Amino acid sequence: MNIKVCVGSSCHLKGSYDVIEQMKEILKKYDVEDLVDLQASFCLGFCAQGVTVKTDGLDAASVEKIGEDQLFLHNVNKDNAEDLFVKDIYPLLNC
Ligand code: FES
Repeated sequence: MNIKVCVGSSCHLKGSYDVIEQMKEILKKYDVEDLVDLQASFCLGFCAQGVTVKTDGLDAASVEKIGEDQLFLHNVNKDNAEDLFVKDIYPLLNC
């Protein structure tokens, strides 16, 4: 699975760097670093709702679960990143 944190100019101003650092900690805390490729991304097209995080590279079970092959999270910040990860991304890791 890929987790792509937007580092476009709008998201950068809203704290992309903090989200990436927080996401590194979260992946370590939940012991899923080997299952996730954390990346920075150019603008994901949802600048007004940044920081935007996109999850793709999902396995077939996850695609079936959400009916999409990618998932977007919006308004992500260092304070809500863990809650959003636990609610929306962790279940897709099927671990
Ligand atoms: S700058 Fe992040 S969605 Fe456009």
